[in-house]
Amino acid sequence: MSPRVVLIGPMGAGKTTVARLLADSWGVTARDTDDDVETADGREVSEIFVDSGEAHFRALESAAVADALATHDGVLSLGGGAVLDPETRTLLEGHTVVFLRVGLADAVKRVGLGIGRPLLLGNVRSRIKALLDERTPIYEAAATHVVDTDGRTPDEVAAEVVARL
Ligand code: S3P
Repeated sequence: MSPRVVLIGPMGAGKTTVARLLADSWGVTARDTDDDVETADGREVSEIFVDSGEAHFRALESAAVADALATHDGVLSLGGGAVLDPETRTLLEGHTVVFLRVGLADAVKRVGLGIGRPLLLGNVRSRIKALLDERTPIYEAAATHVVDTDGRTPDEVAAEVVARL
């Protein structure tokens, strides 16, 4: 079993929303690894970060991604940091992986105050800038397709993904 498409990209790219739109248009289900981690652990992502630390969250996330890649055949969206794990990047090889690209201004607009996103505590804009600078090359290397999301609605982004696959 293999997801029809895997969406990667930073917070504010619209992965979860676009995943639902794609799933609706294809008549399949959408799954998100943040949701899987929360269901398995019983706590929200932000609580796991604060109570148990980022490393613990990353271990749960890697296991959730491996499970979803092996068991889900709909649309799969990954948490923004999932591709930081080299083993996860290896697991992604051979899958259709779409990097939803977003620039700083649109990402900042979309995450708002960053509530529920522990990595954005402090100055949201400077935190997002640092994450985009660090991770954009990683997303690009892991992706089979890149779709720009700046200035576009989730519907427009989903339509381009459908057209490109
Ligand atoms: C993270 C992104 C979040 C969530 C966690 C860490 C990251 O997911 O997994 O807060 O490292 O970029 P979204 O990209 O779905 O917001």
